[in-house]
Amino acid sequence: MDAVTRGPGGRVQAFAPGKLILLGEHAVVYGHPAVAIAVDRGTTVELSPVDGPSRVLRADIPGAEGDPRLAAAVASQVPARGVGVTIRSTLPVGRGMGSSGALAVALVRAAAAWQGRQADLDECIQRGFQVERIFHGTPSGLDHSVSARGGALAYRRGPDGPVLSPLQVAALPLVVLDTGLAGDTATLVAAVRARRPAVDPALAAIGALVTALLPALATGDLPTLGRGFTENQRLLQAIGVSTPEIEALVAFALAQGAHGAKLAGAGGGGVVIALHPEPDALLRAARERGVPAFSVGVWPG
Ligand code: MEV
Repeated sequence: MDAVTRGPGGRVQAFAPGKLILLGEHAVVYGHPAVAIAVDRGTTVELSPVDGPSRVLRADIPGAEGDPRLAAAVASQVPARGVGVTIRSTLPVGRGMGSSGALAVALVRAAAAWQGRQADLDECIQRGFQVERIFHGTPSGLDHSVSARGGALAYRRGPDGPVLSPLQVAALPLVVLDTGLAGDTATLVAAVRARRPAVDPALAAIGALVTALLPALATGDLPTLGRGFTENQRLLQAIGVSTPEIEALVAFALAQGAHGAKLAGAGGGGVVIALHPEPDALLRAARERGVPAFSVGVWPG
């Protein structure tokens, strides 16, 4: 699907994908590297002409019902009058799959198309960050950057701004297991910040792990990568963002033969990603246990 399409009656529609962080969440907020992929699920924003003040006509975003940040996000990107906004998303809120980052980028793309132009990568990242701040307070910028760029990305927040390095990542047999619970990114990031400097060694260890695993990501060395996932999970648990439900799904994936598993995103609920030599077997086992599970593809960059 094209990122932007035009319809009858002056309508414009823009899409942006969600993401999964393979390694490095939370540490990335403090300048350490992280790796993420854009996924083949996402958010579509449609803008259409209306009389009077601009407003959200409909928002089908699982878990976002009544979220006041939605109107603020829309107001930050679309003109104050004349625009009706319809949002559809296949990314549930608070599951670590980048629902706000995808919304941010889709909004920026749609607002530019409304003006008859195309938003380039820089604009998606700059303006998308305004939206991410509305949702997440002090985000690293990783989520909406990978949504804007697509593909796989190493990301670091440098002193002069974000450093994005597109990555060649081998095809990974990833299974996503959903705790069914939402975590609030802003709250979790603030909680980690409050635990500094005690958690700084764990954050640095996450950063070092990401760097050490880049070759395994490129070659698809699944056993090494899997051990890295599980070690990253242990460090995320140490900084206080895991939960019993996440730990149970990680243990379940490992017991089913996964190379490794970890939470993905801010934690406090959300999804677990597992690398499994036979993803279909893990998907079946998860369904038998009543755990929502699915596989994802990479949305191309
Ligand atoms: C949330 O998807 C990822 C975090 O690292 C926060 C951020 O990078 O802004 C927890």
